[in-house]
Amino acid sequence: MTPFIFGKLAGGINFANREKETKHLVQNFSSLINTILISPRRWGKSSLVAKAAMLAFKKDKKLRFCFLDMYNVRKEEDFLKIFAEELIKSTSTKWEDWVRNTKEFFKRALPKVNFSPDQNSEFSLGFDWEEIKRRPDEILNLAERIAVSKKIKLVLCIDEFQNIGFFAESTAFQKQLRANWQKHQHVSYCLYGSKRTMMMNVFASPDMPFYKFGDILFIEKIKEEDWIEFIQKRFSDTGKRINEKIAKEIISTCECHPYYVQQLSQMTWLRSGKICSMENYIEARTALIQQLDYLFTTITENLATTQVNFLEAVIDKVKQFSSKEILKRYELGTSANVLRIKDALIAKELLDSKGGEFYLLDPVYHIWLNNVYFKKDNLI
Ligand SMILES: Nc1ncnc2c1ncn2[C@@H]1O[C@H](COP(=O)(O)OP(=O)(O)OP(=O)(O)O)[C@@H](O)[C@H]1O
Ligand SMILES: [Mg+2]
Repeated sequence: MTPFIFGKLAGGINFANREKETKHLVQNFSSLINTILISPRRWGKSSLVAKAAMLAFKKDKKLRFCFLDMYNVRKEEDFLKIFAEELIKSTSTKWEDWVRNTKEFFKRALPKVNFSPDQNSEFSLGFDWEEIKRRPDEILNLAERIAVSKKIKLVLCIDEFQNIGFFAESTAFQKQLRANWQKHQHVSYCLYGSKRTMMMNVFASPDMPFYKFGDILFIEKIKEEDWIEFIQKRFSDTGKRINEKIAKEIISTCECHPYYVQQLSQMTWLRSGKICSMENYIEARTALIQQLDYLFTTITENLATTQVNFLEAVIDKVKQFSSKEILKRYELGTSANVLRIKDALIAKELLDSKGGEFYLLDPVYHIWLNNVYFKKDNLI
């Protein structure tokens, strides 16, 4: 058993701080306030929602949660199908109820139920799409009907919600969703996703249906002081020690990025004896960068030259991207070009800006570009 986890939800003793956000979410869940959560990938949205859901349930046993993930959903039909399936599953306790509930809650759509009783998760609904297209309301209001009938409060947590933007007639579909969902009295929606531009398009444009649908929260990274405490505690829980200086090195290399802090802590922990040395950390850091070398090489090879040049300028902390001298030095083309490059890199989730300054979203990619690709520093 290693004391750090990454690539899985962080809960229990693996969950660092986030007290403020957790409290906020628990409050929204309990009072059925719709919430929109936005943060870059791997910053801890899913872990936070899961933790807040658990706490809210502890406080109020009438609350039920239904989790959907739209990561591979690209069309309306897929969405409505998993939406109905997960709602039935999450509000029934036994598989025998699935069929009964499906019959009870669908009057018009009458889906075909396929399931295998020995495998708990095997349950699917077959709909007549022609009929659903004409009148999707029965599915869209399913949550409210279930909540009323079962006398529960239901929170629907939908991950990667921005994918709704890919649907063929997305705005029209969003309009239908919003028109139905906003009438619900016993259901609230927690919609989250990592593509900020797409999420903002859906939720923050006044001419879009989901404008002002709920409370928008931007999740921040976890603070340095919370990480120090967390890392030292996880080491000491397992009979090892790490001093503050090395813990700070880990955090600073990872720029507080939750996934990476856990990963690099783990790699350092694995190399450390009872007392962690600076060498243990340096070895772990080198190993981390080497491990990602192939991935970063592939990402970089798939970028246009001007995009790579732009990243180099960001690494060099350039501020005036449209100045003649910078355009020339980094071969960025015209200043109109710079805007396009920037948008493309943001859409690829490689770049973001804060307080008017650009930065690379992936701190280890930054280090790799700097040291391995551009060979600016020789830290490895
Ligand atoms: N509160 C936390 N405390 C400690 N580690 C965390 C916390 N939140 C996230 N992490 C770390 O970050 C990783 C990613 O977290 P999570 O899957 O919750 O993020 P996400 O934003 O939902 O990611 P994705 O964009 O991939 O869906 C976790 O596996 C864990 O290593
Ligand atoms: Mg997630």
